[in-house]
Amino acid sequence: MHQLLLRFSLLALLATGIVSAQPSQPISEQPALIPLPLQYEQQMNQPGFLLTGGIKADTATSHSELGRAAIRALMAAGFEMHPEETEGNLRVVPINHINPEAYSLKITPQEILIGIAGPQALPAAAQTLAQAVVHDSAGQPALPAMHVDDYPALQHRGIMLDPSRHPISVKDTKRLLSLMARYKLNRLHWHLCDDQGWRIEIKKYPRLTAIGSKRPESSDWVNQKQKDGKPVEFFYTQNDIREVVEYAHSLGITIIPEIEIPGHACAAVAAYPELGNQDSPGFAPRVETGWGVFTHVMAPCDFTFRFIEDVLAEVCELFPRAPYIHIGGDEVPHDQWKSSPAAQAFMKQHAYTHESQIQDHFTHFCAQVLRKLGRRMVGWDEIMSAPQLPQDAIVMAWRSMGHARIAASRGHQVILCPIQSFYFNFSQGNDPADSFYTGLSGFDNINWQHILAFDTRINGGKVIGMQANLWSECIPCMRKLEYMLVPRICALAEKAWYYHSSSAPAAEHFGQRLQAHYPYFDSLQLNFRQEDGTPRLYTAR
Ligand code: ACM
Repeated sequence: MHQLLLRFSLLALLATGIVSAQPSQPISEQPALIPLPLQYEQQMNQPGFLLTGGIKADTATSHSELGRAAIRALMAAGFEMHPEETEGNLRVVPINHINPEAYSLKITPQEILIGIAGPQALPAAAQTLAQAVVHDSAGQPALPAMHVDDYPALQHRGIMLDPSRHPISVKDTKRLLSLMARYKLNRLHWHLCDDQGWRIEIKKYPRLTAIGSKRPESSDWVNQKQKDGKPVEFFYTQNDIREVVEYAHSLGITIIPEIEIPGHACAAVAAYPELGNQDSPGFAPRVETGWGVFTHVMAPCDFTFRFIEDVLAEVCELFPRAPYIHIGGDEVPHDQWKSSPAAQAFMKQHAYTHESQIQDHFTHFCAQVLRKLGRRMVGWDEIMSAPQLPQDAIVMAWRSMGHARIAASRGHQVILCPIQSFYFNFSQGNDPADSFYTGLSGFDNINWQHILAFDTRINGGKVIGMQANLWSECIPCMRKLEYMLVPRICALAEKAWYYHSSSAPAAEHFGQRLQAHYPYFDSLQLNFRQEDGTPRLYTAR
């Protein structure tokens, strides 16, 4: 009976031209997963799922909402997919878990079974599968027979990119998004304006890009007096922004845009002097060519408040899925507010006794505008100076872990990016001979070992995220950007996935797994930093 059935089904398969999954040859290789899943079991030296024919999805799976989303996620992760087959070997089922990003995988020679707590778990499940592709004993690509149960500790796992200081093209941004997705990072914090350039097209304020996106030259990052004489002109059109947002979404990444308010405003004020404190002595805004903190801050006036409403409204439209919008708030000097009669009159009108209250006014105003637009506000930790900061404001703690603790103790959700450990513009130690590859000094030796070891524990459950900030004053091109980002991005991803779970993998173990990712980095032609500090592809600038 059994034999008959088998013969019958084989005949049926041949008749329809469909070959059901053949087992792979035995697999002795173990995938080097980063981040390591919480639970991972592999049946060693057993056949796994052979990938030579791609992954087939039957009609029912191809037409179900979950199935379609899984097919898209697997394709985005690089798998060859065959939907609409009469017989498939992909099954996607819901699982019960409090964390919507929780997923499970059960791989047998016949089937890929994905369990997900919510659709947002699919990108991570797909990327674990992509990282798990190994070779069987015949050298064919295959997934090992394995069982994975996994979920992240933190919901915001991010990288901040700074195209304001040095442009990063749409193409390169997309490349970086795929790299982030590979390591299950799910937030790109996009620093779209600063003193040295305004990079996002805003229809209502065309001079922001017509003027604010251009500077005649840039300072050397060590010797500020030395200028390179190379003009910079760069911005993302709204179509560019939509393209990047959609691409990120296809990889499970949400982009959080940042508009700096009220400081780091040289480019904005150069474009629209009405935004600035025009009556402060020596007022002469320009798009900055140097690095640092500059005195041009927004003026507390009707023009500025309308500008903020208009710009944030356009930004919200361009980033429909961003649950929170970053309003900057860092490093705001008070010089101009002190010397501007109009700013002083504004203080008097509101009975403010200190200039810091003008910044607090801006913070409250932004929170109110964003609330009307249906979004939450996130800002650098300086926004905590505002009394009665709305409880739902998210604090991005950059100055220290102490600031993160204060934010948490005041009941705010916190995203950790302390400068001591998560600023990837700082040096990694072991620098190559060409000083081009040197990072900023001040916090040195921020290598992957340091990142994994850095103590980020805060009790109370208020930490929702962790990210690395890749400030680009010292990063003029992708060659250097890649060197500064990779492989530190992997350590960040592992740390954010585990946060302070006691099962965090040991650093030694991480180093071994990291080496196995070099071929992946090479496949993207990344100029990554090797263990001895040398850049992979280009030894000099
Ligand atoms: C910052 O580094 N100024 C947030």
